[in-house]
Amino acid sequence: MFDFTTDIGIDLGTSSVLVYVKDKGIVLREPSVVAIDNNTGNIVRIGKEAQQMVGRAPENVSIVRPIKDGVISQYSATLKMLQHFIKESCGSVFVRPRVMICVPSEISEAEEMTIMNAVNQAGARQTILIEEPVAAAIGAGINIDAPEGHMVVDIGGGTTDIAVISYGGVVVSKSVRIAGNELDEAIMSYMRKHYKVLIGERTAEEIKIKVGKVFDVPSKKPTEIKVKGRCLVKGLPKVVNFSANETLDAIMEPLTAIIDTICHVIEQTPPELLGDVYKNGITLTGGGAKLTGLDKLIEKTTGLRARVASDPISCVALGEGKSLENLENGALGFLGSFGNS
Ligand SMILES: Nc1ncnc2c1ncn2[C@@H]1O[C@H](COP(=O)(O)OP(=O)(O)OP(=O)(O)O)[C@@H](O)[C@H]1O
Ligand SMILES: [Mg+2]
Repeated sequence: MFDFTTDIGIDLGTSSVLVYVKDKGIVLREPSVVAIDNNTGNIVRIGKEAQQMVGRAPENVSIVRPIKDGVISQYSATLKMLQHFIKESCGSVFVRPRVMICVPSEISEAEEMTIMNAVNQAGARQTILIEEPVAAAIGAGINIDAPEGHMVVDIGGGTTDIAVISYGGVVVSKSVRIAGNELDEAIMSYMRKHYKVLIGERTAEEIKIKVGKVFDVPSKKPTEIKVKGRCLVKGLPKVVNFSANETLDAIMEPLTAIIDTICHVIEQTPPELLGDVYKNGITLTGGGAKLTGLDKLIEKTTGLRARVASDPISCVALGEGKSLENLENGALGFLGSFGNS
């Protein structure tokens, strides 16, 4: 039997979409990808099935990521993707859930309205926005309502959201559109420049995940990886032995930009709260937090303790779930809502 009034939390990310259903937990994890038929404009595949088509799609099919840097860049594709994932998670098109959805902490009013409209049009009876770092903090197990400051750094695919949270609200924050995807692009461009080899986004991401290490910490990762690409000079396949050290060289620039932004937020943090952050350390969430040694690199640069949350990719969805459970108790941290409660 369906619960037609259920509450769900959606982490609508640049790389992936997670859905939390109240009393059930996270029920869906799918890549944020859709395949569109160029002739008809129809969506032909969504999520995992669309991602499998990357690099193999026929000429008339385009593979798109409708969320770019945490905000909607292709409205109709996002709408179809949301409708599909809401139906999958709730079990029926007739369920009109109350939806909590995350947004980056620096987002324009127009971008916020676009997200609200898409979620409502996708079948929500009410949409509640929550800032991504606030949801991430709750999901990482931080008691955000406590009268002390906590710093959260959420490194996703499109954005890095940094926030200092106290009494359930954001005191200082910064969101930059530099995160995991930018690291992948830096690896692609390094391969082009140093080896004259063309590789795709998925290969670059694989290099980052399989050998990427940004600080000298013990790890079981191999120190080298064989990368297959296309030689830009001869146009033929070419194999390159790529080392972990080279990965660090390749991603140094965007990585430095992320760490500089963390330092900037620390500089903006009022002294009282900075004392709390010094005591509590920095909590890292989002898929980018899994980059080996990143916590140690942040510790060395900032002088503050840093820890990666357990299951960092799920923190935002878990945080939305916890907030939904507390919605009736006047929980803090929400930006606004639209629709009937
Ligand atoms: N083990 C790993 N090492 C390094 N990076 C990783 C690892 N696992 C995942 N990632 C990266 O994490 C990013 C995706 O993280 P996440 O799912 O939190 O993003 P998102 O929420 O979809 O994006 P955003 O919040 O920016 O909209 C990708 O760039 C992916 O390559
Ligand atoms: Mg995210």
